[in-house]
Amino acid sequence: MRKITVFETTLRDGEQSAGVNLNLQEKLEIAKQLERLNVDIIEAGFPAASIGDFESTQAVAKAIRGASVTGLSRSNQRDIDVAWDALKGGAEPRLHLFIATSPIHRQYKLKMTKEQVLEKAVESVKYAKQRFSVVQFSAEDAGRTELEFLKEVFTAVIDAGASVINIPDTVGYLSPEEYGAIFRYIKNEVPNVDRVSLSAHCHDDLGMAVSNTLAAIMNGADQIEGTINGIGERAGNAAIEEVALNLRIRQDYYQAETRLHLDQLTRTSRLVSSLTGMVIPPNKAVVGANAFAHESGIHQDGVLKERTTYEIISPQLVGLESNSLVLGKHSGRHALKERMEFLGYHLDEEQLASFFQKFKDLADRKKQVSDDDLVALLHESTLKDDSNHYRLEYLHVSYMNAVATATIKLQTPNGTSLEDAAVGSGSVEAIYNTIEKMVGMKINLLDYKIKSLTKGRDSLAEVYVKVEYEGMTGTGRGLDNDVLGASTKAFIDGINRLRNMSKPKQFMEEENEENESTSFVLEAFK
Ligand code: KIV
Ligand code: ZN
Repeated sequence: MRKITVFETTLRDGEQSAGVNLNLQEKLEIAKQLERLNVDIIEAGFPAASIGDFESTQAVAKAIRGASVTGLSRSNQRDIDVAWDALKGGAEPRLHLFIATSPIHRQYKLKMTKEQVLEKAVESVKYAKQRFSVVQFSAEDAGRTELEFLKEVFTAVIDAGASVINIPDTVGYLSPEEYGAIFRYIKNEVPNVDRVSLSAHCHDDLGMAVSNTLAAIMNGADQIEGTINGIGERAGNAAIEEVALNLRIRQDYYQAETRLHLDQLTRTSRLVSSLTGMVIPPNKAVVGANAFAHESGIHQDGVLKERTTYEIISPQLVGLESNSLVLGKHSGRHALKERMEFLGYHLDEEQLASFFQKFKDLADRKKQVSDDDLVALLHESTLKDDSNHYRLEYLHVSYMNAVATATIKLQTPNGTSLEDAAVGSGSVEAIYNTIEKMVGMKINLLDYKIKSLTKGRDSLAEVYVKVEYEGMTGTGRGLDNDVLGASTKAFIDGINRLRNMSKPKQFMEEENEENESTSFVLEAFK
């Protein structure tokens, strides 16, 4: 079996999904879960893109010991220096350096000739090697680059010290045959290719990301890149869980395997979905709610007689256990601690004491507390970035004859309280009108989603909102026994996140390699 290295980029390419903005605590929580999943490399961010990205990459690098942590960098010295500052505390810091190589990107985005791109790539790899022992070089839009030019660039950057060569299909344009052929060509034609490993990075614009990744493996790729649930820029990246399951279930065909602990996949998928607000389609392969549901009578009959008639993946393989309802209001602190440890969360005494109180409050209102409740409650109570925050103190809503009125009391970031009321044609509108008036920000509500966390009438409600303020978009999450409480908390969370966002995220698309658009980052570091 060939070993395939897993380069996980949920926190970088995944976070480039429209409307996703994770705070530092959430990124740390995802990184820790990726460590449990046993990925080889975690791409924690793009440190020079914003102060927030720098800080979260640095925090992940410090916290993770079981995987190498990397960060993205354009091919210039400033980005490399900033990335080194963010990553140097990591267990095995490595750099992910990129420059676009395709004719379209050279002509319109970079306004550079082939010779200039080549020179810049080599210069940056040499510079990066003075700091990082492992440098991965990516030829952005390799999928639409002339093969001869790819060969020239790769030969030169390998000589300059790159240890991993990534061949991204940046715009998700290629077919599996075409993508596989590029790997074959590079393996056969690049004279020093035996000094490096080759990596596949696929986008899903035509729905081919997983197939293309597998084609790359069949043609010599040693490393695959992707995200949990396939989230990412535009249509997303290759879904790690799908690639990994293909390798496991069709071992006979691919003759390759990852080191992933597959029984962590369901938990990882749910965590990423819950923190990003990106809902998993029920029919999604491997982790969708219906992935193991047999509806037709003929299928049910077959599965009862022999599971493998219609089921090629066992739910246990991906960690899908029945969500046993284990805790209730008589459960003690020890039982809670044990259950959280089983779920992968290690709480110290202080955290346990405060979490136990929250658990008791919930158990008083809800008969049975499920694993999903516990995890959501923990995220709600510990993952919120509590600096600089508005907080809900009080909410009253009345509704009569199509006029709703909300009265709200908020604690402001400077510790004072505000109270106000407003009307709306429905309860949620009245709440959002009141909050908007109180915080003095004109907030555009781009999306609103509500779901019940578990089955049963006493289920907690989880609300996601996507909000926009002066060109910045962000998401907010709220959890409560009551749908209006959850809606209020989600809107306030969205506002708090918008306030914490230092810069818009659309930095990478707008820049050109020669401009000074990272200067704000460096200014902040002076
Ligand atoms: O899709 C892409 O080309 C990328 C690069 C930065 C590797 O994400
Ligand atoms: Zn990408």
